[in-house]
Amino acid sequence: MTARAGKPKLRFVVTAGPTREWLDPVRFLSNPSTGKMGFAIAEAAARRGHEAILIAGPVSLPTPRGVERIDVETAREMQAAVKKTLARSDPANTVFISAAAVADWRPARTASKKLKKSEMDGVLRLVRNPDILKSIRGFRKVGFAAETGNALREAARKLESKNLEMIVANDVTEKGAGFGTDTNRVVILKRGAAPERLPLMSKKAVARAIVAGCEK
Ligand code: CTP
Repeated sequence: MTARAGKPKLRFVVTAGPTREWLDPVRFLSNPSTGKMGFAIAEAAARRGHEAILIAGPVSLPTPRGVERIDVETAREMQAAVKKTLARSDPANTVFISAAAVADWRPARTASKKLKKSEMDGVLRLVRNPDILKSIRGFRKVGFAAETGNALREAARKLESKNLEMIVANDVTEKGAGFGTDTNRVVILKRGAAPERLPLMSKKAVARAIVAGCEK
């Protein structure tokens, strides 16, 4: 089967949403990601006739039609799900898109019972989580760079350091961009090409542009 316009059918493996890093059964570290961007990408890919597999952190969005969904909570669970999914994917026609806001750190220890005030001393020891996107090799990779200033410079650095084909940069402090909004203003960077600045548009339209960019 081929995708629309006679282009070959691809498999899009997309991470979305935040991760949760548990301190004890009632507390976690996380971020305000709602998953809208990643879900929109999976939806756009499926609508274009591609296969779409969504690996989602805890979000409250419905699964888009035609999309296979795997739910995870922590960064390490997300990494395991990505590796397992890519292990059953063909590198020749698979694109890994990392739209998740992965927590970079997790508590050094997760208590199995609720911690009491008296057991906490105001110091939380953290350890680094794996960089999921960087750890993937041998696949086409697309990343995101949500920044608070210097978005282009940071995105260019991550394009190289994570060995990406494309990175989607945005400044989350700009109006209409960032966490939870339905719109985004992004710049798409590709290797050896001039930055492509897109106007403020819906996340669904940004998603269509990203999927179309992967079809080329
Ligand atoms: N990412 C990931 N695993 C992580 C952190 C980030 O897969 N532990 C992915 C994100 O999904 C995104 C890209 O890497 O596609 C850039 O995320 P960002 O948080 O901007 O990158 P960091 O490497 O954490 O950069 P910084 O130096 O700004 O902390």
